[in-house]
Amino acid sequence: MTSLIAAVSWSLHLVLFVLGLITATSSEMIAAIVRPGIFRHVMCRNNLYPRSGVLRYPVPDELVYWSEDYGEYCPPFYTAPHINGQVWADAPLPSETFKPQWNQLDGNVNRVSYHGAYHIKDGLPRNPIGRTGISGRGLLGRWGPNHAADPIVTRWKRNDSGGMVSDSKTGKNILQMVAIQRQDNKLWAIPGGMVDPGENVSVTLKREFTEEALNFTDKGLMVEEFFKSGGVQVYSGYVDDFRNTDNAWIETMALNFHDQDGTKVGQLNLTAGDDAMNVRWTDMDGSLKLHANHADMVKEVAIRLNAHW
Ligand code: BGC
Repeated sequence: MTSLIAAVSWSLHLVLFVLGLITATSSEMIAAIVRPGIFRHVMCRNNLYPRSGVLRYPVPDELVYWSEDYGEYCPPFYTAPHINGQVWADAPLPSETFKPQWNQLDGNVNRVSYHGAYHIKDGLPRNPIGRTGISGRGLLGRWGPNHAADPIVTRWKRNDSGGMVSDSKTGKNILQMVAIQRQDNKLWAIPGGMVDPGENVSVTLKREFTEEALNFTDKGLMVEEFFKSGGVQVYSGYVDDFRNTDNAWIETMALNFHDQDGTKVGQLNLTAGDDAMNVRWTDMDGSLKLHANHADMVKEVAIRLNAHW
């Protein structure tokens, strides 16, 4: 009975949230929504797998979760040929010589999911959110979680005389974020990247930002200082990425680095580098369309800074 009441109240909460009648107040809200058994991925279903001719096996909404019976489910197995042999990738399959330690730190490779222990089925990790219509690793290097890190760098939008600009409808000040346009799917995104084995997430955040948005690896003292101030964590968990498969998926940790008076990173000239086609300061609001579920992470920043969305 108690669990029934809890389930009903949770569903009601979710419906209200989706209808926009209540606003999320903390990062737990996003984390709770992107959670096994609650969240259904969209970007990694019912399409052609990127950079391949492999069509995903159809996965309708109601059959995403592994707990739903889908007898005829028969996803093709695909690992992009160029993945094999890369230093950043696992061996083609677990074997006598490659015995991954799932759900733990395996040497310096982090095989731990933010969503708790994932299941191992037929010797391979199983996507914690559900079916994707494809097995194997696709374009991803690791079996199981592939860890990324995303720096959401923000400043207030200002007019020519330096005053903050607010939205005429909400009356709230408008935030701007550094967004890059990705080479692979041409979508605008947070300038994040993959965490190298043994690397501290803070190092990944700074490196990816400087490589993708400033196009110089010699960071410069100011950028160094700005990132040292420490960001505010807004999300950690599964990313609804178009490369995910039944056995390999991306998880990220997103941190907000906010330049309150716009005198630090807010002043820098942005230059697209590395995997980015374009880079710009982008106004943040509800109509922003970004890669994967990046917009949800960015929205969280707007809520926390009481900005227009
Ligand atoms: C990107 C990250 C992103 C992750 C998941 C990586 O390629 O660099 O910004 O969060 O993919 O989509």
